[in-house]
Amino acid sequence: MKEFKAERIEGLMPSGIRMITRMCDEAGGINLGQGVCDEPTPKEIKDSAIQAIRSDKNVYSKYEGIDELREKIAVKMKDYNKIKCNPDTDITVNVGSTGGYVAACFSFINPGDEVIMFEPFYGYHLNILHLCKAKIKYARLSAPGWYFDFDEFKKLITNKTKAIILNTPTNPTGKVFSREELTFIADICQKDGILVISDEMYEYILYDKNEHISIGSLPGMDDFTITISGFSKSYNVTGWRLGYTVAKKKFTEKIGILSDLFYICAATPLQHAMIASFNLPDSYYSELRASYTKKLDLIFPALQNAGFKVHRPQGAYYLLADVSSMGLNGKTDASKKLLDLTGIGAVPGESFYENPEDGKNQLRFCFSKEYDVVEEACRNLQKLKIH
Ligand SMILES: Cc1ncc(COP(=O)(O)O)c(C=O)c1O
Repeated sequence: MKEFKAERIEGLMPSGIRMITRMCDEAGGINLGQGVCDEPTPKEIKDSAIQAIRSDKNVYSKYEGIDELREKIAVKMKDYNKIKCNPDTDITVNVGSTGGYVAACFSFINPGDEVIMFEPFYGYHLNILHLCKAKIKYARLSAPGWYFDFDEFKKLITNKTKAIILNTPTNPTGKVFSREELTFIADICQKDGILVISDEMYEYILYDKNEHISIGSLPGMDDFTITISGFSKSYNVTGWRLGYTVAKKKFTEKIGILSDLFYICAATPLQHAMIASFNLPDSYYSELRASYTKKLDLIFPALQNAGFKVHRPQGAYYLLADVSSMGLNGKTDASKKLLDLTGIGAVPGESFYENPEDGKNQLRFCFSKEYDVVEEACRNLQKLKIH
């Protein structure tokens, strides 16, 4: 019998995150695995969605998205990201930021092109590059501070390097790239003609005094950057699938062609709904940070007290902890053991490394859950002390 399978999906596996969700559900555990925000969507946005549906905003929009939304995004990009862009030529609204990332990668990465990713990485970034048949090189972010070595990074660059994938604030480490690090990367890009695809999904979720800097705002970088962001995490609408790319016309034209082919457009009524997000007061963002900080202040010491080595994240809502204190013996998968001992689901560190061995002592904990759930998880973590 003939096997029906495209070569390009060879080796792709369902994400470890889905597996944990299933295991955790079966065990009736607390799922700190998947990065889903449990908190409600702001009322203004929900009302605006209902209004859009009631007024029959039902048909396909332009593939680059409705004009009003792109105009709002352009203002936000100027004010928050310090990137000037033309809403008519430089923005594509997409099916989640993931839709934008897929369209960007397929527009600019040829088979055999070298692409540099920071490791530990976000698995979707990697697998989509595999679909493009890119040759991937890894720049290690090292615990505890998740810094990278500038000299080692330079050694990864060759005349085949096409792009660097950046994610700040970062999933899974919570790193926020500093101005010094971004300037270093920007200088290389401009000197060697390398594109940066910068995923800034968690741009509003920051701790302590950390500041979000968009690499596209650095001098000269508008010719080398595709900035990607979205609404999923900032407004608790992961299931609405709305995001966008911002890049100069020469890039956006190509991204638009593929977005049209792949998706036609993002959901029209939800594009209308999302205009309301731009009318939220500044206090919305300070409250978002305060609410995540409160959860972080609960879970961070709880993980330390459980005997794990963990670095306080600077942004996003993940902690990547070294859990070797649980007495793993190579045969015991860390997440299964944690689920058995505490009823908590966390993602195996192996999902974030090219060589799974490098992450076998790590677990990623996501704390984008309601406060009570994080509290309960922290109580359960105390059970580890008796083992
Ligand atoms: C780094 C990063 N980028 C993108 C996404 C997905 O974003 P969207 O819902 O806009 O597709 C996630 C979701 O976990 C993520 O962690």
